[in-house]
Amino acid sequence: MKRAILTSIFALLAIAVTTAQKAEFAIVPRPLEVVAADGNYQLTQKSVINYDDTQLDFVARLFAEKVDKSVGIVLPVKNKLSKSSGISLMIDATKFADEEYSLTIGKRRIAIVGGSPKAVLYGLQSLRQLIVAAPATPKGIMLDAVAIHDKPTLAYRGSMLDVCRHIFTVEQVKTFIDMLSLHKINYFHWHLTEDQGWRIEIKRYPELTRIGSMRDETAIGKYHITKRKDGAPYGGYFTQEQVRDIVKYASDRYITVIPEIEMPGHAVAALASYPYLGCTGGPYKVRTIWGISKEVFCAGKESTFEFLENVLAEVIELFPSKYIHIGGDECPKNAWKVCEACQKRIADEGLADEHQLQSYFMERIEKWLNKHGRHAIGWDEILKGGISKTTTIMAWNSTKIGATAAKLGNNVIMSPKFYCYIDYYQTMEPEKNNEPLANGRKRQLPVSKVYSLNPFEGLTAEESKAVIGVQANLWTEYIPTFGHAQYMALPRLAALSEVGWSHPRKDYADFAKRMETMRKIYEIEEYRYAPYMFQGIE
Ligand code: ACM
Ligand code: ZN
Repeated sequence: MKRAILTSIFALLAIAVTTAQKAEFAIVPRPLEVVAADGNYQLTQKSVINYDDTQLDFVARLFAEKVDKSVGIVLPVKNKLSKSSGISLMIDATKFADEEYSLTIGKRRIAIVGGSPKAVLYGLQSLRQLIVAAPATPKGIMLDAVAIHDKPTLAYRGSMLDVCRHIFTVEQVKTFIDMLSLHKINYFHWHLTEDQGWRIEIKRYPELTRIGSMRDETAIGKYHITKRKDGAPYGGYFTQEQVRDIVKYASDRYITVIPEIEMPGHAVAALASYPYLGCTGGPYKVRTIWGISKEVFCAGKESTFEFLENVLAEVIELFPSKYIHIGGDECPKNAWKVCEACQKRIADEGLADEHQLQSYFMERIEKWLNKHGRHAIGWDEILKGGISKTTTIMAWNSTKIGATAAKLGNNVIMSPKFYCYIDYYQTMEPEKNNEPLANGRKRQLPVSKVYSLNPFEGLTAEESKAVIGVQANLWTEYIPTFGHAQYMALPRLAALSEVGWSHPRKDYADFAKRMETMRKIYEIEEYRYAPYMFQGIE
């Protein structure tokens, strides 16, 4: 007995010693458990990726492509499971949850077991990081033996891209989705309608794209300072065919695309296309400066709801997502206060004021979505006039507002601007660091600030269950090119991802070390990224 104990103590010591000598297992987001083992696996072109479930075909080939691109080794892919060698991929939903996986590197074999193909893909993303970090020897890439077990803290890890202020190509949107996949982010919130442009084809309402997708010109820089516009017409939109292509591309990578159709505010492009949708009947022009418009959808006329329901009917055909985002932010009430139809609605429905009129608006649309099997997400302003318990709140003003919603019993996605708005400056001294123009003046958001987000702040363990996720938002007023968008998103998306996956075990210094591997991947993929965290600049 004593001897057995001594033996296991020695075995433990041996592991501790080898762990200290080994690579850091530089995986971002930080896995739940990492246990180093003895020995190593030589990855060569003879390492066959093998599996017997055809659902894994796509992720196996995707991984092979990434390994080839990263280290120049072409791994064979075989739809026949090997119990003894190569890289074996398996699904076991009896042992693992949907997003949970284990990754074991032994001397002869690497095995990834996940609760679903999605979880296996997460395991492969982790393995890719280990491969990029590992030393190349004449015998192959030398991977240290290890047993990793991982699952995310939060079910929803999201990122929003605004394609309205500036539009990007289909290929660029797909690259953004690749960036999310690399970071194990599982929701792509696609902001498609705005004051400055309507970006999705709706067959029943062709004017939305003929008129609403184009603006006459665009403000230069901070308009309140420059008072200048560029005089160049700007616009574009995604056809339904392109939307389907993007949704499929994301779905192949286990990312859900959530469309956002903004209402009742941020709707000027729709009003310009169909002026009857506004309180005054117009005319309206697609907005050429940023900020908030007082012109919004009329909440009094039935024709507004008919329009929105018809639009949403096409939207839900294109997007299988359970969640549909219906906006709800920044809706001034000026027009409603002097609109006969809106005031009649308030009187007829027995509403107290215009805030309750907005609640009426949102709840009516939410009910329509529910009737069609979908679930509404709205920005946190919708709490003001009271809101149904079934709406998911996207808290952007503060974690405190999110916590209030959670206490009310609503599900919450935390996206507070001072932690999650990745359109803000990336360092505390933007001028000194030559940062390009960004949103906000005193709103600096270094990677460490994103990393420090506590999505459960002010909540008990029970209340915290209402927080289903976190999200980083990329508004594009000051981001005219996709390279610039990448530079704003990376590496801050990595910090957001680690909040979503690994919040209870966060450690910024350790994260910064592990990020060196992620940086190599950014280089391999030719993603533009901000250099500051790698230079120790906050
Ligand atoms: C927002 O930033 N207006 C949601
Ligand atoms: Zn009205």
